[in-house]
Amino acid sequence: MHLLYPSIIIGIKIVGIKIVGIKIMTINSSKVLRKGKQVEAMPNKLLEINNLQVSAEGKIILNNLNLTVNQGEVHVIMGPNGAGKSTLGYAVMGHPGFKVNQGNIYFEGENITEEKADVRAKKGIFLSFQNPEELSGITLENFLRTTQSAVTGKSIRIMAFKKELGKTMENLNMDKDYATRYLNVGFSGGEKKKSEILQMLLLNPKLAILDETDSGLDVDAVKIVSKGVETFKNNKNSIVVITHNTKILEYLPVDRVHILQNGTIIKSGDVSLIERVNRYGFREFTPAI
Ligand SMILES: Nc1ncnc2c1ncn2[C@@H]1O[C@H](COP(=O)(O)OP(=O)(O)OP(=O)(O)O)[C@@H](O)[C@H]1O
Ligand SMILES: [Mg+2]
Repeated sequence: MHLLYPSIIIGIKIVGIKIVGIKIMTINSSKVLRKGKQVEAMPNKLLEINNLQVSAEGKIILNNLNLTVNQGEVHVIMGPNGAGKSTLGYAVMGHPGFKVNQGNIYFEGENITEEKADVRAKKGIFLSFQNPEELSGITLENFLRTTQSAVTGKSIRIMAFKKELGKTMENLNMDKDYATRYLNVGFSGGEKKKSEILQMLLLNPKLAILDETDSGLDVDAVKIVSKGVETFKNNKNSIVVITHNTKILEYLPVDRVHILQNGTIIKSGDVSLIERVNRYGFREFTPAI
């Protein structure tokens, strides 16, 4: 259904020919030294979404949605089926099937609302799909090498890449044979999710949006993936975890939890919100009509 992989691959081809001035954003340090004293500075906004309205096939899916994710933070998005969580991920990634009617998306202070998916990927945004696409004709290894080269703008040294790929696959408990298979073709649900996390680990994005990465994974695989996400996390990158099942958060310090319902964020809070949702469901957050 969605064209994101092909669009990224097409983007890669274009980018390969003309890499047009990749902006290197000067990110303010999160600590500022003033008169010899260390003073906490304002957090750096990595992603800022203002008053977003998004539609697909003429249907408004997200409306008046606001969200700010600072550098180094882990945010969790929960909400009932059909609330618009995946749509939010697609909108941030620039999926061509979703139209922004109103509002803006800023990444590192730059308005990216009109940017194409491959441009956003190069800026450091990554989306792990809820339902990863199968792509016949390109092996997992070739896909990963091509995307890594396009996103970083550097040519990849094959032996070094193979070594990194092998090590990362081993950490995710993935059979190395999968590297030579077509991307996700015939992979089980859980294997596809691992292949998404493998992409994330190799691309090392600044912002990773994980859309139900834990669904379809068996208990051991959730632990492995959760640990993989933990190794990726540092104080410079940010993660938005969309989930119904909070096991994936076991190894991640959660900064903020949001409840998305009917296309908008109706409640935000700290990690205790997860427990409230697990205990009482979403009903108590639904505004009275
Ligand atoms: N391309 C599309 N055309 C029309 N409607 C769509 C399209 N994509 C999504 N929708 C609708 O938008 C709403 C939100 O869908 P979305 O996939 O974002 O929900 P979700 O919160 O991720 O749900 P889930 O928890 O089940 O994954 C749903 O009603 C869905 O049917
Ligand atoms: Mg979804």
